Amino acid sequence: MLAGLQSLTFEFGARIIVEDATWHIQPGERIGLIGYNGTGKSTLLKLLTGEYMPSAGTVERSRSTTIGYLHQDLLSFDTNESILQVALGAFERVLQLEKEIADLGHELERTGDEKTLHEYSDRLHEMDTLDGYTIHHRTEEVLQGLGFTNSDLQRPYREFSGGWRMRVLLAKMILQAPDLLLLDEPTNHLDLPSIEWLEKYLLHYQGSVVIVSHDKYFLNRMVTKIVELYQQQLHIYNGNFDFYEKEKAIRLDLQQKAFDNQQDYIRQQERFVERFKAKASKAAQAQSIQKRLDKLERIEEAELVRPNIRINFRVDKTPGRILVELKDLSKSFGEVNILNNASVEIDRGDKIALIGANGKGKSTLLRIIAGVESYEGDRKWGHNVEESFYAQHQLEALNMNNTIIDEMKECGSQQTELELRSLLGCFLFSGDDADKKIKILSGGEKARVALAKTIVSKANFLMLDEPTNHLDMHSCDLLIEALNKYEGSLILVSHDRYFIAKTANKIWEIDGQKVKEFKGGYEEWVEWKARMAKQEQQKKEIAEPAPAKKSNAEPAVVKKTEPEKKPVQTSQPVNKEHKKELQKMQRIFQQLEEKLAAAEQEKTRLEKSLGDPLTYSDKNKFQATEAAYQQASQDWHLLNKEYEKVFEKIMQLEQK
Ligand SMILES: Nc1ncnc2c1ncn2[C@@H]1O[C@H](COP(=O)(O)OP(=O)(O)OP(=O)(O)O)[C@@H](O)[C@H]1O
Ligand SMILES: [Mg+2]
Repeated sequence: MLAGLQSLTFEFGARIIVEDATWHIQPGERIGLIGYNGTGKSTLLKLLTGEYMPSAGTVERSRSTTIGYLHQDLLSFDTNESILQVALGAFERVLQLEKEIADLGHELERTGDEKTLHEYSDRLHEMDTLDGYTIHHRTEEVLQGLGFTNSDLQRPYREFSGGWRMRVLLAKMILQAPDLLLLDEPTNHLDLPSIEWLEKYLLHYQGSVVIVSHDKYFLNRMVTKIVELYQQQLHIYNGNFDFYEKEKAIRLDLQQKAFDNQQDYIRQQERFVERFKAKASKAAQAQSIQKRLDKLERIEEAELVRPNIRINFRVDKTPGRILVELKDLSKSFGEVNILNNASVEIDRGDKIALIGANGKGKSTLLRIIAGVESYEGDRKWGHNVEESFYAQHQLEALNMNNTIIDEMKECGSQQTELELRSLLGCFLFSGDDADKKIKILSGGEKARVALAKTIVSKANFLMLDEPTNHLDMHSCDLLIEALNKYEGSLILVSHDRYFIAKTANKIWEIDGQKVKEFKGGYEEWVEWKARMAKQEQQKKEIAEPAPAKKSNAEPAVVKKTEPEKKPVQTSQPVNKEHKKELQKMQRIFQQLEEKLAAAEQEKTRLEKSLGDPLTYSDKNKFQATEAAYQQASQDWHLLNKEYEKVFEKIMQLEQK
C-alpha cells in the first residue's frame, strides 16, 4: 500500500466531514474521488498530504512515499518568478545544495578549515547522487515538451493564463515524479487539447493517481476506481464512472428493498409482541422478540439526498434587438495577436458559446465585451441592455475576508438583507451559513456565491466565463435548466462539451484573429466542422491522389457509443491464419457469454438473498452474503470487460 486512511474521522468544529473512513491506495491505481460540492474531497486530499490532522484514526503513509498535490485553486499561487524557476522548484534539495556548496566554498576559501572541507565534499557527493547538475537541462526539456517555447521559459509565471500556469505546476510535478499524484479538479483550467494531453500523460504515469473531478467524460477515460464521499462515508466502486452510476443505482435499489423487507419484518414482529405481551403463556417469547428487535441493526431508507440549488435568472427589462455591436475590433498582447479587425454583433435571444483553444482569446473577448479589458475598435451597447459578468476564476474575484452576506451586499443591488438571505437560501446557504467567511468555502461553494451575485442583478444579458467550473454534476444540470428558461441573452465560455451542447444556440469560434459565427447548436457545429474537414480532405485527394486514408478529423461528439452485445457475423476473412484467429475469438466469445449469464444469475440470486428477512435478521449471514454479492458483482464486471474486449477484437479481425 502506498498511502491510506485507517478508521479516520475529521471534523471542522461541529461539522463532521468524514467518519470512520478506511481507504487504501495501492501502487499504480488511478482513482476518481467524487462527491457533491462541499462534501470534503479537497479536505481528504489535505489529510493525505498531512496538511490537516485527523481527530481520530490515522493517515498511513510509508516514509518513503512521495506525494505531489495539485491544488484546486491553483490560481491563488502567483509569483513574479519565471516559469523556469517555478518548475525548478521541483528540485528543492538540489537548489538548497547549490546554495550550501556556494556558501561552504566561500568559507573554505576564507578559512581553509578541515571541517568545512568535509562538509563541502559531502555536499558535492550528495549533489552527484541526486544528478543535481542536470536539473536545468531536464526542466527545460519537460517544459518544452509541454508546449512552452524557449522564449517563454524566462517570462514571469504571472503573465500566463490559467491553463498554462497549470502546465507549469504539472511540469514541476512530473519532474518530482512522486509515487502518488493528487489532482484537485485538474480540468477546470484546461481547454480540450490540453485535457487530451493530460489524459495521455496520466494514462502512462507510473505512480498512483487520485483525481477529484466533476467531469464524467474525463473520469470515464481516466480512472479504474471511484471513491465517493457521500454522507460522511467513503464508498468504493471498482470501475469507471459509468460503472459507478450503474452500480450505485443497484446498491440503492438493494438497500431500499432490504429496508422495505426489514420494515415488514419489524412490523410483523411488533404486532406479535403487542398481541402477546400481556398473555402469560407467550409473554417470555414476546419479550425475547422485543429484545431481538431492540438489537436489530436498522437498515436506513435509501433516499438519495442531493443538494438542490434553485437558480432562477430573472429579467427586469426587455432590451432592443441588438445588444452589443463590435466593429473592427483589434487586440494583442505584446507580439501575440488575438483579434484583428473583427466585427460581430449579439442579438436579442442569442445564447452564444465561444469556442477555441487556450490562449486564442476567448476570455479576453468576453472581458472586452464586459468592458474590463482595453481594445482598439468600436463596441456599442444597444438600448436598455443590463449586463452581468461572471468572470473566470471568479473564486479569486471574491473578497476572501468577507462573509457571504457581506459579499452579496457589496454588489449594490438595492435588495434588503432579508431578500439577500433568502436568495442565498436558494444556493444552499441557509441561516448561519450566510455568515461564513468566503475564505473557508470549498470550490463549489465559492462558485455558488459568485452565481448568486450574477443573479441578483436581474440582468437581461449574461456573460459567463466557465460557469460550470467547480460545480458538481447535479448543480451543473440545474444551471443548464435555469439557462434554458432564462429569457435574456447570453454569451459563455466553457470547456464542458455537454454543457455547451445543452445551452448554446449559436457558436462563435475565434480563428485567424476573426470571430466566425455559426448559427446553430454545438452538435450541428461539430457535424458541420467534420463535413468541412472531409470536403477539404477530398479536395486535397483530388489535387494529389494518394492512398486512401481514414479521416480522423472528426471532432469528438458528446454522445458515447457502446459496443452492441450480440454475436458477431462472420464475413470473408482473407487468409487461413486470420480465419483461425477469428474462429478462436468467436469460441472464446461464446464461452464468455455463457459465463456472463451464469455470473449474472449468481448476482441476482445473492441480490434476492440480501433482501430476504432470514438473511438480514442474522448479521453474520448478512455480512457474508453481502461480501459474496460484492465479489459476484466484481466478477461480473471483470467478465463484462473481457467480453467487450473480445468483442472489439472480433470487430477488428473482421475489418481486416
Ligand atoms: N477551515 C474551515 N473551517 C470550517 N469549515 C471549513 C473549513 N474549510 C472548509 N470548510 C468547509 O468544509 C466543507 C468541505 O470543504 P472541501 O473544500 O473539502 O469540499 P469539496 O468536497 O472539495 O467541495 P468542492 O467540490 O466544492 O470543491 C465545506 O462545506 C467547507 O465550507
Ligand atoms: Mg474541492
